Amino acid sequence: MRLRISPQSIELVRETANIVEVASEFTALKRQGANYSGLCPYHEEKTPSFSVSPEKNFYYCFGCQKGGDAIKLVMELKSLPFAEAVSHLAERFGIELKLEGRSPEAERAAEQRTSLRRSAHKALAAATAYYHKYLLKSPAAEEARQYLESRGFLRSTIEEFRLGYAPPRGRPGFTQAARTVNLGREALEAAGLLSQRGGERFVDRLMFPISDRRGRMVGFGARSLGDAKPKYLNSPETEIFNKRSLLYGFPQVLEATRREKAVLVVEGYTDVLMLYQSGIKNAVATLGTAMTGQHLKTLSSYAEKVYLLFDPDEAGENVLEKAFFPAAELRLDLRVVRLPQDPADWLLENPAREFRELLSGASSVLEYVVRRNTDRVRGTDAVDRARALPKIKDLVQRIEDPILSREALRLAAEALGMDPGTLREELREEPGAPNVANVRASREAPPARVTPRRDQRVLSDPVVEAGRELLALMLARPDLSVRALREGMKAPPPWNGSVMLGTGDFGDETQGRIFALLEEYASGGDGAGPHQGLDPILSDERARPLLDEISALRAAGERLYPSTAALRAAWFRLAAIKRAEAKLLTEDFDEKYRLHTEVKLLNAAAVEASNQTLDS
Ligand code: UTP
Ligand code: MN
Repeated sequence: MRLRISPQSIELVRETANIVEVASEFTALKRQGANYSGLCPYHEEKTPSFSVSPEKNFYYCFGCQKGGDAIKLVMELKSLPFAEAVSHLAERFGIELKLEGRSPEAERAAEQRTSLRRSAHKALAAATAYYHKYLLKSPAAEEARQYLESRGFLRSTIEEFRLGYAPPRGRPGFTQAARTVNLGREALEAAGLLSQRGGERFVDRLMFPISDRRGRMVGFGARSLGDAKPKYLNSPETEIFNKRSLLYGFPQVLEATRREKAVLVVEGYTDVLMLYQSGIKNAVATLGTAMTGQHLKTLSSYAEKVYLLFDPDEAGENVLEKAFFPAAELRLDLRVVRLPQDPADWLLENPAREFRELLSGASSVLEYVVRRNTDRVRGTDAVDRARALPKIKDLVQRIEDPILSREALRLAAEALGMDPGTLREELREEPGAPNVANVRASREAPPARVTPRRDQRVLSDPVVEAGRELLALMLARPDLSVRALREGMKAPPPWNGSVMLGTGDFGDETQGRIFALLEEYASGGDGAGPHQGLDPILSDERARPLLDEISALRAAGERLYPSTAALRAAWFRLAAIKRAEAKLLTEDFDEKYRLHTEVKLLNAAAVEASNQTLDS
């Protein structure tokens, strides 16, 4: 019998783990009314949008919309699986975990999942063979074969990596072939081989099969030959396909990686192939996502040195900063190489031997991160230099390994043009980030820390504007908003289902609070139904500090000719703007593409709705 942590223990950890304390490990928090706020540890930002509510024991970032409880925070920021995150917190807050065996039902459910996973692997193995054979043999794959040839890929590479081609539209595809080998829809679904409508997911695309470390097929990256968007369509996340931990290139690159105790991490599938073909057989690629701690953990079982080859853009730089700590913890020697172009393209024009020389010029990620924190102030006077100190101190302190920490100090001193001893002295006097101990001791008044001033907004924030318009309409006609508040706003096809909004979709806290009140009353949670209009809301204790804002919004709403169509338009517009923001922030290609599609649909829905307001 397998043991697991009892649900009661998990609940206890959830309740006991103080979110302010836990979050303080990752970012400096400052009290703001009932909540705490600080710079978001998930994404790079200059003004704090990360908010922590000790009362709800919950965190939420208004910028990147990450949110959850202490367990989730630890899982994500320390890259730990659920059970390990729970044990980590239990130890920290002195909770004894109870372990228990699984109930027979749970045992059965687990077995079912295992068997479904097995059939997904089987389906993917069959699909790989099918697409591969189709590429090599079918007359309909002529264009695909020529394309690969024009890109310089050899037959041996195509075979070794089992590249394939998914038949074009109008021809039978894999799901038909699957019937003849006894693969049911359930298996195809679990394998992520079906489209949303239940048809072929992959049509007219070059197929790059993706394996896990053990060589089991787990999914595909599928490149369009023409300009069908997206350029790469990847398998959807399934039980066996998790982009945050998988890497492209396994198991082919394992042997060379072990032998050389070094691995290259590149961005594209084609880069892995071209490197391999050029004799550099120890390169892997992430699957269109940023590199995570889990990726590094995987690699650390085979390699001591990891070379990160990346496009020198902003997103790439953020990834480096995030990768530094997990790498240090795993004692990986993480090095960084900035490239003038993609390795696949570079190798078509230059000899592979020179590529190795590029690698020998790699700088350590530590150097890179320190530089990034000192570059802005280098060469300026002592006052400017002092501004870099808190970040440097933070960095130096967070590095647990004393050798690395000393090295960071040396590099920072060098970059700042100072003597290391002097820098150490200055850092000692610098008030650092609040650590766990002093947050606990003085919860009322966390140590003061310079937080960046909110930038003086010259232009109005589009999210705030859109939120204001929506709230104004809802407050003017609460009766029209009830349904949407309860169930979300139904959008026209091809949108599937309703468009939901939450408090986090609003650009400022007051708006979020007003929305939350409206939502609560719409659901009739307090017995006061929406038919009573705004009155019960206005007499709510919590509405008191919001009254001025509410009446201003309501007056504005009345001038806007409130109608169902106007409300729909405002709702979709806010939803579109928020997604457009999220699209800019995400480092995941599939997510970007999904958001892009949603923004287009929502904007169209908003336009359609506002045209209706003109008609009426
Ligand atoms: P690239 O656009 O650089 O593609 O994206 P590539 O692999 O180098 O392909 P070629 O050489 O242009 O044909 C790099 C990686 O980002 C992911 C894929 O993993 C790709 O290999 N990606 C890119 C997506 O997941 N979706 C996309 O739409 C684009
Ligand atoms: Mn590329």
